[in-house]
Amino acid sequence: MKKLVVIDACIREEESRTRRIAAPIIQVLAKRYEIVRYDLTEMPMEPLTPRTYADRAAGIIPEWALEAARTIAAADRILIAAPFWDMSFPAVLKTFFEHTSLFDITFTDNGHSCVGLCKCEKVMYVTTRGMNIPTGDPREQGSSYLQALSRLWDLGIILTVAAWNLDYATPEEIEEKVESATRFGLRLAETF
Ligand SMILES: Cc1cc2nc3c(=O)[nH]c(=O)nc-3n(C[C@H](O)[C@H](O)[C@H](O)COP(=O)(O)O)c2cc1C
Repeated sequence: MKKLVVIDACIREEESRTRRIAAPIIQVLAKRYEIVRYDLTEMPMEPLTPRTYADRAAGIIPEWALEAARTIAAADRILIAAPFWDMSFPAVLKTFFEHTSLFDITFTDNGHSCVGLCKCEKVMYVTTRGMNIPTGDPREQGSSYLQALSRLWDLGIILTVAAWNLDYATPEEIEEKVESATRFGLRLAETF
């Protein structure tokens, strides 16, 4: 069975609208993929520090990060669920990427530049935004960051499933936006 890595950075957990959109999509994909989940809210993680950076240079890398990087490199598909925070995504997701961006696992170099080592061909990025910021807007640095990361790691295309303006909508409008994004994600899942 092909492998799907799910990375969940929904800090508001059960309250999260992002997680609500992602859940049925993951459920459908579970019929076709073996799923490995990284629930970042349950993983105590700090950004690299002078000490952990020096450890890394000496080849000392936390076992969990090595395992996660290898799992990501071998994944056929990746789904990321992360709310829109401070014009991109929660810092815990960047921290996770910092720990799993490992030389000769997720990327290497060819003497001229960096080259990705990941097998993944498609990433689905599920998010919700408070402000009226559509996907691709210059203020929207979530999907553009993931596109850049895809160039480094070679993750293939980034398919963004988003609902926005949620913090300035009525409860009915929020419901409609969440349902509409879920329908879109489920349609994408058919060929994902
Ligand atoms: C810490 C924090 C930072 C946020 N930053 C932004 C932001 O920069 N731009 C924006 O449009 N919405 C921002 N929001 C609003 C969220 O994007 C919005 O409420 C989203 O639906 C939350 O997703 P969730 O329900 O999955 O937690 C922020 C919310 C929080 C809690």
